[in-house]
Amino acid sequence: MTHRILILGGTTEARQLAGKLAARASVTLSLAGRTESPVEQGVPVRTGGFGGADGLAAYLREMRVDLMIDATHPYAAQISANAAQAARASGVPILALRRPGWEPVEGDRWTLVDTFGDAAQALGPAPRRVFLALGRQEVAVFEAAPQHHYLIRSVDPVEPTLAVPDAEYLSARGPFREPDERALLEKHRIEVVVSKNSGGAATYGKIAAARALGLVVVMVRRPDLPDVPSAETVEALAAIVDQFGVDHFVEPAAERGV
Ligand SMILES: NC(=O)c1ccc[n+]([C@@H]2O[C@H](COP(=O)([O-])OP(=O)(O)OC[C@H]3O[C@@H](n4cnc5c(N)ncnc54)[C@H](OP(=O)(O)O)[C@@H]3O)[C@@H](O)[C@H]2O)c1
Repeated sequence: MTHRILILGGTTEARQLAGKLAARASVTLSLAGRTESPVEQGVPVRTGGFGGADGLAAYLREMRVDLMIDATHPYAAQISANAAQAARASGVPILALRRPGWEPVEGDRWTLVDTFGDAAQALGPAPRRVFLALGRQEVAVFEAAPQHHYLIRSVDPVEPTLAVPDAEYLSARGPFREPDERALLEKHRIEVVVSKNSGGAATYGKIAAARALGLVVVMVRRPDLPDVPSAETVEALAAIVDQFGVDHFVEPAAERGV
């Protein structure tokens, strides 16, 4: 019988993992439905929330999922918490893909903060030229610091636009290369970059460019994520699934009450 794997996605890695595992299992990718025109995922997709951890647990049972893989973005803390809880409640095994964060290197000027609101505060009272490389859900808190000039780049347009007098908007999807990021920062005479610690190469260009230009990066720390078995790369996670086989993750039928 073909095993069923549910991948919680919304990241490039989730799509790559789905492609790799599709040859050996029946894979469904779940998206939150935030992005208006998500890229083609290559496997069957379901879209929208499950209705909390209970809703996700019910879905896992109903769809007879054998293995759940949390491959969501590191800042999507709610769905990761829900996934861990739903796995416990349903007895469906869980693995997580946890891309490591970036570490500061020589020449980096990072100011570390815990929340997006703290990042807005950290910009200080004097007007500055700020690049917000954040999602449209995350930029709203910068309305609390309307004195700055903002250059805002997100995958989907920020609508409604921010209630601040001086903001420019760019819609773009990575990867972003360092030379292009450097040119962008110079063109807009940016003084401060606000970023998530996403990790990976696709969005590191702005961090490297900020370092080269001697700019401050206000880095929003990662949220706490549940402690579940995990791997750092698509290859490593696929290897775990291969090495043990999906059967390894499936508890005996008696224990699951089927
Ligand atoms: N590619 C990127 O750079 C990037 C950046 C940020 C976020 N994302 C992705 O965007 C999605 C939403 O992020 P968020 O910040 O809103 O997450 P969140 O705060 O952790 O999740 C909020 C709610 O959205 C629903 N949800 C989130 N991810 C889902 C998924 N993969 N499938 C089905 N429902 C999902 C869940 O609703 P219910 O409680 O109703 O189930 C969850 O409780 C995540 O999947 C994340 O991986 C991608």
